[in-house]
Amino acid sequence: MTQAVLIDCDPGYDDAAALILAAGSPALELVGVTTVAGNQTLEKVTGNARRILKLLGSRAPVAAGARSPLLSDAPRVCPEIHGESGLDGVELPEEGVPLDPRPAARFIAETILEREPGSVTLIPTGPLTNIAAAVLSEPRIVSRVREVVLMGGAVHAGNVGPFSEFNIANDPEAADIVFRAGWPVVMVGLDLTRQARADEAVRRRARSIPTRAGRLLAEVLEAFTGTYRRARGYDAPPLHDPCAVARVIAPETVRARPVPIAVECAGRWTRGMTVCDFRREPPADVRTQAALELDAPAFWDLLMDAAARLP
Ligand code: BDR
Ligand code: CA
Repeated sequence: MTQAVLIDCDPGYDDAAALILAAGSPALELVGVTTVAGNQTLEKVTGNARRILKLLGSRAPVAAGARSPLLSDAPRVCPEIHGESGLDGVELPEEGVPLDPRPAARFIAETILEREPGSVTLIPTGPLTNIAAAVLSEPRIVSRVREVVLMGGAVHAGNVGPFSEFNIANDPEAADIVFRAGWPVVMVGLDLTRQARADEAVRRRARSIPTRAGRLLAEVLEAFTGTYRRARGYDAPPLHDPCAVARVIAPETVRARPVPIAVECAGRWTRGMTVCDFRREPPADVRTQAALELDAPAFWDLLMDAAARLP
């Protein structure tokens, strides 16, 4: 039995790795990919998603979504890590897979409603604007989704601010809607993804995979390492987004704890923070979980195997 997943992303190096893992895992059926402005503008990340899927030989449809956060018309992009194109230094085909004409929020809602209730898992790996827009326009999806497993947030330290992580900080109001919707949410945040370090041994392993997807993964890891080294001084960058996909494939690899999570939309220093309340045992009906512990060797095996299985 495969699990139907829909990835909402902003590729982006680590988003590209998430797409490799989702497309190449025998446990998953990738039913669609939607895009949102984040690491780069909507045009750039949409073009990247389409060209990545073409290279991977995937038939998943792609639909483009929000150009900016719910309450602002100024997207904040991240060229210092992902380059001017969103994937600088990575070789992709000229042409991508065709673009679905529907806006992402409609594509997401229709895909969920036309499938068996409880069968689709949403994996957002960018700002949560499209997912919130889908909930606002079609609230029935909340009870129809199996789970939302998102890369974003942090229990402890952030990356764009002391407490805020890029995807949540980019659109805190959207994140607030997603965390409060009432569906099960697993937050795969920085506490977890900082354990997925693409060090030289990992990069060497990717270089040895004799497939197009393997080459893409190797190029992504090399370029990501270069920009992280220049921008943040790391030698082994945290490969955030595929950790959320790994949670769906093998939950024991990405271990999470139930905890109430709220998104701070107001704080002067803390806007975009995911506030996790660990003061007491979580209430029995808590729907949110924070991922805290990664089985890193098992995670890298999943990613390398996926790249080896693809064309
Ligand atoms: C997240 O921000 C983006 O730059 C990455 O693609 C990842 O989704 C990490 O904070
Ligand atoms: Ca991302």
